[in-house]
Amino acid sequence: MNRIIETQRLILRPLKVSDAEQVFEWVSDERVSKYMVYTAYTDIEQVRKWLEFAENDKSTNSFGFVRKSDGKLIGSGDIGRQSGKAENVWGFGYNFRYDCWGNGYATEAAKAMMKWAYENFGVVKFFSSHAEPNTASGRVMQKCGLHFAGYGEFEKLDGSIKMRSVEYEGLYCLED
Ligand SMILES: CC(C)(COP(=O)(O)OP(=O)(O)OC[C@H]1O[C@@H](n2cnc3c(N)ncnc32)[C@H](O)[C@@H]1OP(=O)(O)O)[C@@H](O)C(=O)NCCC(=O)NCCS
Repeated sequence: MNRIIETQRLILRPLKVSDAEQVFEWVSDERVSKYMVYTAYTDIEQVRKWLEFAENDKSTNSFGFVRKSDGKLIGSGDIGRQSGKAENVWGFGYNFRYDCWGNGYATEAAKAMMKWAYENFGVVKFFSSHAEPNTASGRVMQKCGLHFAGYGEFEKLDGSIKMRSVEYEGLYCLED
């Protein structure tokens, strides 16, 4: 299975343990982790452990997003089956280094992951959700062709924050 995807400005590729320093740049940033399920990492060793797990995890399709212009890893995301959803409905998520926000990278990466899921697994139905105040992420979902589907619950993995989430769903759109 080819997990290297090229877009206009990005290369999407599997994450490696040797990416730890670059990944730590954003996962240690509370502005980035605020509405993610993880809490900001404080120790790069935790990132290494997570990357080791991700490298060997066959059940999740995670990707690092490399900016072509400078070869830097600027974010990561994943796409795959969602627990509690029908088998053919895939969910996706993403996060980016703070200084890279607002350039359309998340939309570019998410669309590329959806296309990859469609081409390799025939997935046409997608789902995503965001903590209610995280409207920028909702905008990315809209730009990926998804529409509002209802409300759910966002909860951090450590249970420290619980709030309403906004859920989006939609069909893969062949146009760019
Ligand atoms: C959410 C996130 C991935 C967006 O990445 P990005 O590369 O800036 O996204 P894009 O540039 O593709 O699109 C962002 C859109 O949101 C809009 N936007 C930005 N801030 C916004 C805000 N506060 N309210 C509403 N829309 C906002 C932008 O204008 C843009 O829309 P436009 O193209 O119509 O102008 C990025 O902010 C991030 O990494 N956040 C931290 C991690 C996170 O929250 N991930 C999502 C968890 S659900």
